[in-house]
Amino acid sequence: MKIAMIGTGYVGLVSGACFSDFGHDVICVDKDASKISALEDNIMPIYEPGLDALVARNVDAGRLSFTTSIEAVKNADAIFIAVGTPSRRGDGHADLSYVYAAAAEIADHCASHAVIVTKSTVPVGTGDEVEHIMREQAPEKNISVVSNPEFLREGAAIDDFKRPDRIVIGSEDEDASQVMREIYRPLFLNESPLLFTGRRTAELIKYAANAFLATKITFINEMADLCEKVGANVQDVSRGMGSDNRIGSKFLNAGPGYGGSCFPKDTLALMKTAQDYDSPMRIVESVVQVNDSRKRAMGRKIIEAIGGDARGKKIALLGLTFKPNTDDMRDAPSIAIVGALEDAGAHICAYDPEGMQVAADMMPQVEMKQDAYEAAQGADALAIVTEWDIFRALDLERILSSMNGNILVDLRNIYNASDMTDIGFSYTSVGR
Ligand code: NAD
Ligand code: UGA
Repeated sequence: MKIAMIGTGYVGLVSGACFSDFGHDVICVDKDASKISALEDNIMPIYEPGLDALVARNVDAGRLSFTTSIEAVKNADAIFIAVGTPSRRGDGHADLSYVYAAAAEIADHCASHAVIVTKSTVPVGTGDEVEHIMREQAPEKNISVVSNPEFLREGAAIDDFKRPDRIVIGSEDEDASQVMREIYRPLFLNESPLLFTGRRTAELIKYAANAFLATKITFINEMADLCEKVGANVQDVSRGMGSDNRIGSKFLNAGPGYGGSCFPKDTLALMKTAQDYDSPMRIVESVVQVNDSRKRAMGRKIIEAIGGDARGKKIALLGLTFKPNTDDMRDAPSIAIVGALEDAGAHICAYDPEGMQVAADMMPQVEMKQDAYEAAQGADALAIVTEWDIFRALDLERILSSMNGNILVDLRNIYNASDMTDIGFSYTSVGR
């Protein structure tokens, strides 16, 4: 199959590279010329484990290429739209301007028979609008519009794409469904289930899944707060709940609140859609609100741990990205935490293995350090914000001896409380 991928970000690049690895002929298109020229030199525009080798292998095999020219869609059997759908400024609806602009460009350049596949996360009804654009702009062409939402996670994107729990395909046209079956045939042979639905249903499944996962996290985060008040241990509560198959153990890790490029914007967009259709989703509304306030509350938690007054205190943060194994800083809890600490008069230094370059522009007052040990030097308090593996086995005696104070705030519960106290830390974690 010949595939064109419009948008070469976290989803488009991974999807394009994986499709080419299945043996399809893939061309990735992006408006951002610097991304494309970097990719042509095999320099990845994002950090995603394993991506550089996957891209290099498929470029060498002649199955994967990159361009800024939309004309690349002209020979494609299927054209995937994987552009961003951020929150629209002001009202929180998904901003669909990139999707519609891409659709209009595709209409002008695609073949007379083509399947347009929306991989971006888009509100219910967007496929109808894309179809409308196609009809208006290219009435002579026979174009089908399919929804194929993506469920990969950053940091585990290649594995998630190649071994998905399911592939959702929303299609109103049997020929287009057949093209999608062919594209995903390698995965189907590996027994990844293909779920065919109506297009609107597929669009909604994506939001339902993200909102449910966000709800699960928010539930355990509130449970953690209660655990702290009543002297219970949230990790044991998670284990005790999660071992019930009906609940499941995943996404029950308490922490500083969910962040990232998707849960925050997608919960908000679902909430707005539901309100528009006069069918408000009060659970999702609460999740959005509780999670928003939690991130800053984590800043206050650190301030409380140092005695309530952060003025002039030096606080070291380990981890800035919204989760490990990514360089993505979008809606990372660290942003709100840094804001709360700086407002309280603290001086922040930080270390993150992959996120510091982007973070430096977002938090110009924060002093970025070379590693965890350098960040901790002279600090009154140390806070673990993101659970990167390298923070799990630090030489904590070395860290403590270089600090000015002995406060350790572990917002990801990666250490054992009694071990930390034995070393000499005054240790605080989440829900334990
Ligand atoms: P991103 O911002 O990393 O990448 C989007 C890319 O699209 C950018 O490189 C941009 O330059 C390009 N672009 C925009 N308009 C274009 C056009 N007209 N022609 C060519 N290129 C264009 O975004 P992302 O994180 O990959 O997310 C893309 C979509 O996938 C979003 O809807 C998101 O919700 C969804 N999604 C993301 C993830 C994730 O883990 N990031 C997972 C599942 C779904
Ligand atoms: C999430 C979903 O997991 C993907 O299925 C989906 O495709 C993607 O959003 C999307 O639509 O973009 P991602 O944002 O990459 O993927 O990362 P997650 O692993 O889901 O983590 C999201 C946030 O929740 C992170 O801040 C993480 O630290 C937090 N989290 C996750 C917890 O606080 N506790 C948990 O138990 C799990």
